Amino acid sequence: MTYVVTDNCIKCKYMDCVEVCPVDCFYEGENMLVIHPDECIDCGVCEPECPAEAIKPDAEPGLEQWLKLNADMAKSWPNITIKKDPPANADEWNGVPGKFERYFSCAPGGGD
Ligand code: SF4
Ligand code: F3S
Repeated sequence: MTYVVTDNCIKCKYMDCVEVCPVDCFYEGENMLVIHPDECIDCGVCEPECPAEAIKPDAEPGLEQWLKLNADMAKSWPNITIKKDPPANADEWNGVPGKFERYFSCAPGGGD
């Protein structure tokens, strides 16, 4: 069991989540974060903190794609434990559908 970051994080990347995670299991890509499923202790604290409502428990149906993406990207992206400034236009991207198909980037972010 783990929580996973999903589509609406892309280009929003608010990073409120990293501040509350007790085990620092967020990893940073260029335009989104992911959760390392083997490190997440399933506490659920991050879920309500995300302004984009992008964090979901993997027990929800239909999240297999996101579980795989979180697991895969957490292996290559740097750990992030400190909130940085979100993109200046983050609010404009909040709720835009289909961001994964058009905007997902596998490039790593800067980490801490
Ligand atoms: Fe961290 Fe808890 Fe969120 Fe897992 S559910 S990523 S342990 S805050
Ligand atoms: Fe993304 Fe939400 Fe965290 S938008 S960076 S999962 S606070």
